[in-house]
Amino acid sequence: MRIIMAGFGTVGQGFAEVLHKKTDRLNRFNESVKIVAAFDSKSFVADENGLDPLELVERKKSTGSVGSEKLKSGIDVLDSVDYDVLVEVSPTNIKDGGAGLKHVEHALKNGKDVVTVNKGPLALKFSELNKLAEKKNALLRFEGSVGGAMPIINLCSENLKGERVKSIRGIFNGTCNFILSRMDKGLPFEQALKEAQQLGYAESDPSYDIDGIDTACKVVILANSIFRRNVTFSDVSITGITSVSAEAIALAAEHDMVIRLIGEVSDTVLEVSPRLIPLGHPLSVSGTLNIAQIRTDLAGPITVSGKGAGRIETASAILSDLIAIMDRRR
Ligand code: HSE
Repeated sequence: MRIIMAGFGTVGQGFAEVLHKKTDRLNRFNESVKIVAAFDSKSFVADENGLDPLELVERKKSTGSVGSEKLKSGIDVLDSVDYDVLVEVSPTNIKDGGAGLKHVEHALKNGKDVVTVNKGPLALKFSELNKLAEKKNALLRFEGSVGGAMPIINLCSENLKGERVKSIRGIFNGTCNFILSRMDKGLPFEQALKEAQQLGYAESDPSYDIDGIDTACKVVILANSIFRRNVTFSDVSITGITSVSAEAIALAAEHDMVIRLIGEVSDTVLEVSPRLIPLGHPLSVSGTLNIAQIRTDLAGPITVSGKGAGRIETASAILSDLIAIMDRRR
């Protein structure tokens, strides 16, 4: 299985490390997995015999670039190297999908399988990309785009295949949850945001987190993939957390409540907003955790929780999608 890694940044480094660490597990499939090219926004490197994942990580860390060659465009790399799967891990761009959208579209058009955690292409063009994948008999998988390591998309579409999922409510942004939990302890918003950024969870543009944009992207992905809706980012009703005051949090605490940024999706709802959650309720989690409450018709309520970000944690979801593709293609 030959992989091209596009948008090689923090998550890319995590995935390269995971590939190295899991060589034995992957070898069980009797097919070697090799990275035949990797690129970031400025540089690229390619070798049809496979690149050493740890060397990629080292070079990115020490020089800021994954490759020694200057990148003209990612599409050039996709056109000049033979590969089977594109792993697209560029940062999210919600304005027009950015380069990530172009890479995903190009790979699918050429019948290549894609694993992505980039929310922009999925939140803007979900239905188009899925139709394209179907037409070209390509697989498009994106477990890590919602909830990082927390299983939710494949859980609903594979393990809960026989269920009708009635609704999903959850916390899908670790940065906001961290900020609100720190504000519970009396910290001012700005300081809490700074701490969240230091943890490396926040988006490159943190307004994506605090304005609810990141959660809205995830709600769109869930709506389309699990509820079979045909919605896009602009359909979501979004309120972020910038207007949540210290006074509101203190007042909530007086009534044994906390305020959390909740994403909710069902056949009719598509919403992101700060909500009052009673202390002790499953959704009252603190820190950077993500959590989702899934209501189903037969199984009843199911709650999952896990690390919604982090380079290794997100890479674990990419690995599971990659193994699922290897299973299907065998
Ligand atoms: N900025 C996101 C978060 C990263 O804080 O949860 C994962 O999508």
